[in-house]
Amino acid sequence: MTTEQSPTLDNLLTESRSFPPSPEFAAAANATADWYTEADADREAFWAKQAERLHWDTKWTQVLDWSNAPFAKWFVGGKLNVAYNCVDRHVEAGHGDQVAIHWVGEPGDTRDITYAQLKDEVSKAANGLLSLGVTAGDRVAIQLQMIPEAIVSMLACARIGALHSVVFGGFSPSALRQRVDDADAKVVITSDGQYRRGKAAPMKANVDEALDGAQSVEKVIVVRRTGDDLEGDVPWSDGRDIWWHELIDAQSADHKPEAFDSEHPLYILYTSGTTGKPKGILHTSGGYLTQAAYTHNAVFDHKPGQDVYWCTADIGWVTGHSYIVYGPLANRATQVVYEGTPNTPHEGRHWEIIQKYKVSIYYTAPTLIRTFMKWGAEIPAKYDLSSLRLLGSVGEPINPEAWMWFRENIGGGNCPIVDTWWQTETGAIMISPLPGVTHAKPGSAQRPLPGVSAKVVDDTATEVGNGGGGYLVLDKPWPSMLRGIWGDDERFKDTYWSRFAEQGFYFAGDGAKYDNDGDIWLLGRVDDVMNVSGHRISTTEVESALVSHPTVAEAAVVGASDPTTGQGIVAFVILRGDAAKAGDEAIQELRNHVAKEIGPIAKPRQIMVVPELPKTRSGKIMRRLLRDVAENREVGDVTTLADSTVMDQISKGLSSGSDD
Ligand code: WT7
Repeated sequence: MTTEQSPTLDNLLTESRSFPPSPEFAAAANATADWYTEADADREAFWAKQAERLHWDTKWTQVLDWSNAPFAKWFVGGKLNVAYNCVDRHVEAGHGDQVAIHWVGEPGDTRDITYAQLKDEVSKAANGLLSLGVTAGDRVAIQLQMIPEAIVSMLACARIGALHSVVFGGFSPSALRQRVDDADAKVVITSDGQYRRGKAAPMKANVDEALDGAQSVEKVIVVRRTGDDLEGDVPWSDGRDIWWHELIDAQSADHKPEAFDSEHPLYILYTSGTTGKPKGILHTSGGYLTQAAYTHNAVFDHKPGQDVYWCTADIGWVTGHSYIVYGPLANRATQVVYEGTPNTPHEGRHWEIIQKYKVSIYYTAPTLIRTFMKWGAEIPAKYDLSSLRLLGSVGEPINPEAWMWFRENIGGGNCPIVDTWWQTETGAIMISPLPGVTHAKPGSAQRPLPGVSAKVVDDTATEVGNGGGGYLVLDKPWPSMLRGIWGDDERFKDTYWSRFAEQGFYFAGDGAKYDNDGDIWLLGRVDDVMNVSGHRISTTEVESALVSHPTVAEAAVVGASDPTTGQGIVAFVILRGDAAKAGDEAIQELRNHVAKEIGPIAKPRQIMVVPELPKTRSGKIMRRLLRDVAENREVGDVTTLADSTVMDQISKGLSSGSDD
């Protein structure tokens, strides 16, 4: 990457909109501007103060041991029980009747679970796991949809010191098997079936297919969710399989949580890397919980007992781990957990839920926001969303257009928006506005949080100046950092610590730049940054420009190899309803629009109108596949697509605008 300021990136530097928090919001905010100075003055003291928000059975003797870098130890010598911190202590403090979870099933069934009830459920599940011989350090794989038992299972593991490895409910049998084998899971927890878009689909059958011949698995616990709605019998393996309600309901609700070492492993979560083999990201207890709870408190300005919080992620991803389970529950949140898809049975489902439960904090992903845009602003307009007071976004850079749409149409023009940058590996939010402090800029994650240190550096590890771009690195250890890749220390060092080994920087894999105020703009993964005629252009920037055109609903941009310019920009766009049949003229207009927004260098070589974009189940666009199309290659492996037919739809329906 080059470091001089690229003229093609200037559009991001000209973002002049700025949204300060209202005086009322700022006055009542949990996190204040002096947190930055306090943390800068003594980072370890700052983190120790955050750790003190938790209950420790034994206090630590050292905040950070970095002597064996990159293997960190935080709160050395401290002991705590993560589940006790998330559940029991709130009950003991007199909040047993507070609702922890307003659960909404896709078919419309609901359950409210108080902290006292959650304590009983988690204790029973812990006793159930113990009765199967699960002990501290064992691995339990969980493949469940968004039902309360998923959260209960995770907390039950944490309570007895077993590691959970949650596998997204939509993952294929082979993906599950790969993860079960890699972690040597002793127990698998799943359900009979799951509701998806109004239908009951089998789950246990897939798990059985996955586990055929799996050596490590002794028991499979099955939650009955779809019951008689599911066609056909639930396949059953006597001696191995056991119903959740038969095992757990019969258990005692008394379980005394044991205090574990601060560095006791809490969970493994697999994430994809550059090779085909997923990486088992390992998180531990004290530091992870400290930062998950701290960020949930500071970034979402969460007020226990007052706010109703909703994070729309799935527990199959790290967002669900940190911002549905550990952060919110450690902070005694009342939260909504929704089982289904956002358009079942209708496209206003989220707004209906916000209205019903008076949700005040709503945390979601840009891809969903753009989907809502596509469905139309008239849908949320039908609901009372006035309970909302803060909005959040995570997962990819949020286009300024989507940010503005979110602010106006969901936030009623007066909610702070926090654009939170972090990764499975970081465990918790790292870069984000502070909602009562930061003057928000649409599209920028802005600054590292108090206590966190990040830099944008060039190839030589030198920090770039304002207006410059380069690699995003984390130059100081943080409490919720990954402690390794399960079973593969070398890969851990290679993947994250070798690029800037000399400096000891963690390389996040993202490109980023500073604007003229020194605010950070994420430019996407480094491999998503294109190089056209020696100029660096982010796919995100071109996508933002395209989406800012009134006819475009969604856009994905890739760099395709080009004999003249190195890479040429190829865009795939989904047009809005009435524009969908646009001809060549409209496509030319779009190319000119991008040229106008960013500069002639960013004018797409080609724009293809498509009915859908290839996305993973977590909503990430699979640019690799689009690059195959753009470079006229046979399309590669599509097994991780949420909808494997998308690539066929794209090649069948291509209409393209080409070179001038
Ligand atoms: C990658 C991590 C963090 C939970 C969800 C994804 C991208 C994440 C942002 C943001 C720009 C973002 C980065 C990062 N990313 N949040 N606010 N702005 N990019 O977790 O699957 O581990 O992915 O997502 O590229 O490296 P993940």
